[in-house]
Amino acid sequence: MHTRENGRVTQHLFFDCDTGIDDSVALLYLLARTDVDLVGVASTAGNVPVDVVAANNLAWLALCGRTDIPVHVGSASPLVADLMTTEDTHGPLGVGYAELPAASVLPSPVTSADAWIDATRAHAGELVGLVTGPLTSLATAVRRDPDLPGRLRRLVIMGGAFHTHGNTTPVSEWNVAVDPEAAAEVFAAFGSGPAPAPIVCALDLTESVALTPDHLVRLAAAASSSPIEYADPGDERGLRSVADNPVIRHLMDALRFYLEFHDEHDEGYIAHLHDPFAALVALAPDIVSTIPARVSVELTGTHTRGMTVADERSMTPGGPNARIAVATDVDAVFDELIDRIGRFAKDVVAEPNSQRPPQ
Ligand code: RIB
Ligand code: CA
Repeated sequence: MHTRENGRVTQHLFFDCDTGIDDSVALLYLLARTDVDLVGVASTAGNVPVDVVAANNLAWLALCGRTDIPVHVGSASPLVADLMTTEDTHGPLGVGYAELPAASVLPSPVTSADAWIDATRAHAGELVGLVTGPLTSLATAVRRDPDLPGRLRRLVIMGGAFHTHGNTTPVSEWNVAVDPEAAAEVFAAFGSGPAPAPIVCALDLTESVALTPDHLVRLAAAASSSPIEYADPGDERGLRSVADNPVIRHLMDALRFYLEFHDEHDEGYIAHLHDPFAALVALAPDIVSTIPARVSVELTGTHTRGMTVADERSMTPGGPNARIAVATDVDAVFDELIDRIGRFAKDVVAEPNSQRPPQ
């Protein structure tokens, strides 16, 4: 994992998300990385409508004393498809049972797509892009500025399902299923010339990052939060946390909803942390092994629309346009998430004014 170099920022990152319970954990992890300049947060419609995504991003940033970070608002709908949302997965407001204090700051007037363009121009060749929601905003930005891909240092996408069952249709993963046209355009735009091949964190690997109640106990302890609460599947539904640390309390309320959702869908009392895993990969790509592939997105199949097709054997022209993450050390992923977010949650409480832009 990266460390501060003489207290300086070592990476600049632009975060595009559909916050979302696991997007929330990813955002907290990015905030916890004091060696990272979080240039902006693009809100994209997906788990919940885009205005709710933006409100969640603003609320988490305000809770953590980081209202200096701009939140951008994307299109209300995908490029072509009608918007579908999934409040049953992420809760009526996208953050499970959490009731985040509303932020007093407004989103930036710069749209998510224009913010992508601005950020890649301001940090040309250095910016890491991370997308943990549908690719609508990034695809719109690339339509407006076809040179954008070549200005990114790295792009990490949470999305797709290659050799595993989809979570939205039998063959399609949520972020791609919401806006297949956007996903197709992004995969077509990267992986050739100066545009880096995106690292794709698909369900095949992200579903192995399964949070358990024990992880939440470790997280609360790392934050010196009290009481330490054990989320149990036998608890009454919707039991609210009374943790004295506000970040831990709201995270517990958000993640309990997610644990209940997975349990109700025969996954066990666990929570797939797709997005925080992608955030770790964005900042430390060496934690995954990858295989090159040409990724295409099915757009017209009656039964297969939104399917991500990986050509791993050079059967189709064009060559690889992606690197699919295929293996990682899941224990090390949780160690990093718990350590960083736990310490951050403790600092937010201890020194509320300390959360200022990294120097
Ligand atoms: O399929 C999982 C992905 O879809 C995650 O990013 C989750 O937040 C939803 O956006
Ligand atoms: Ca997401």
